[in-house]
Amino acid sequence: MAGSDEFDVLVIGAGPGGYVAAIRAAQKGLKTACVDRRETLGGTCLNVGCIPSKSLLHASEIYEQAVSGAFAAHGLSFGEVGYALDNVHRHKDETVSELTRGIAYLFKKNGVTRIAGEARFVGADRVEVDGDVYRAKNIIIATGAEPMDLPGVAFDHERILDSTSALSIPQTPESLVVIGGGVIGLELGTVWRRFGAEVTVIEASDSLLPQMDADLRKEAAQLFSKQGMRLKLNAKVLSCKRTDKGVSLAVETREGGEETVEASHVLAAIGRRAHTAGLDLDTAGVKADQRGLIFVDEGFRTSQPGVYAIGDVIKGPMLAHRAEDEGIAVADNIAGGDGVVNHEVIPSVVYTRPEIASVGLTQEEAEARGPVRVGKFPFAANSRAKTMSETSGFVKVVCCEQTDRVLGVHIIGELAGSMIAQAAQLMEFGGSSEDIAYACHAHPTHAEALKEAAMAVRSAPIHI
Ligand code: NAI
Repeated sequence: MAGSDEFDVLVIGAGPGGYVAAIRAAQKGLKTACVDRRETLGGTCLNVGCIPSKSLLHASEIYEQAVSGAFAAHGLSFGEVGYALDNVHRHKDETVSELTRGIAYLFKKNGVTRIAGEARFVGADRVEVDGDVYRAKNIIIATGAEPMDLPGVAFDHERILDSTSALSIPQTPESLVVIGGGVIGLELGTVWRRFGAEVTVIEASDSLLPQMDADLRKEAAQLFSKQGMRLKLNAKVLSCKRTDKGVSLAVETREGGEETVEASHVLAAIGRRAHTAGLDLDTAGVKADQRGLIFVDEGFRTSQPGVYAIGDVIKGPMLAHRAEDEGIAVADNIAGGDGVVNHEVIPSVVYTRPEIASVGLTQEEAEARGPVRVGKFPFAANSRAKTMSETSGFVKVVCCEQTDRVLGVHIIGELAGSMIAQAAQLMEFGGSSEDIAYACHAHPTHAEALKEAAMAVRSAPIHI
């Protein structure tokens, strides 16, 4: 055990990776501290990411259902429907505040020492935080990521927004250009479209969500266009400047020409980069690549013994749940256990309406490895979806032709984000489409669409 002046484990960063690692290490009986420069715990995810955006998504979804006549289709009627953005933001802020206080409580309960301030290495086993030096036998770097800058676009956070300032716009924009048709652009773009903004998404590549399965991408583009979002693909934003009315963007078009796009507001969401600058990694002997991503082995050990890294600062998808799992694994390793994370089976969810969720290989990736079989089932033939009048989307199951092992599952539909957990669990156990098809699924549920897609892999679904 460490003496009073040092820790067994010091975690830099209190996001989903860092705070989970700290709690797990403390649960293992290790004397643990966690440093973060934010006033509240929870990192980007809780403070300015997953959680506040979900609050806005939910409010805007209910509002749109009420004003669009979707509720009326179920026989429900209301008086005047409206929203007060102040109150929408208040609910969001209260939710964030409750959850971040919840982590502070968990730190107390588990005896994790909280250190406020910005940490930097002053040796391989010590960091300095606002003039105080802390030593630790093990240091975990979990400092997350920050929005990437786009040359030619200077954020003023009033009209030219990043993913943080786009969460607290005081009045619904008249028109919003979203630069980047990735996860953040689509989630926040749909929020403001539902509240009444005219939204245009400008995406440099030839499709939205370039990393996802091609069928999902195609369906998503159709659905978002139908919902009123303007999509400009193969179009690259070159620059963006404030004007009297709002913002003017210079955009390189698919044909190589240049056009001007005007809007009242702009949100740039072109990706995030590892937040490792300022840590003085060299002082600790921790090696990183040119983009600041830290090299680690499968046990999250960096090039410096006793220093570990997890989450967005290492290679892989920048997802809170991946960081959480890595936080548990790294703490288990430090405590002498055998913590691993199966990086082949990390689900990802885009919380638009409908939701878009994937786990494992896309069909294209699977085909590149060998012959596959694919089963698909549309929600239009799912009775539960029908009762809710939300029948867009489908489930797609991709399997190895020879072994029937499930290699990937891709869902676009109302409850895709919750449904993907079943697929991830099945894949974690190396399951087959037959395993899903012969497991009894409750009726009527959306999950039956997964069962039917699995049935479609080798034989035929019943309901189409
Ligand atoms: P992203 O990587 O998902 O999408 C960025 C998009 O911007 C790409 O499609 C890219 O082609 C495009 N782009 C790049 N330069 C451009 C230019 N000059 N003009 C037009 N388009 C351009 O990045 P995003 O949305 O910023 O998200 C960052 C990270 O945060 C991602 O890794 C994502 O996984 C994570 N995240 C995850 C969420 C979730 O799991 N639901 C929610 C929010 C963020």
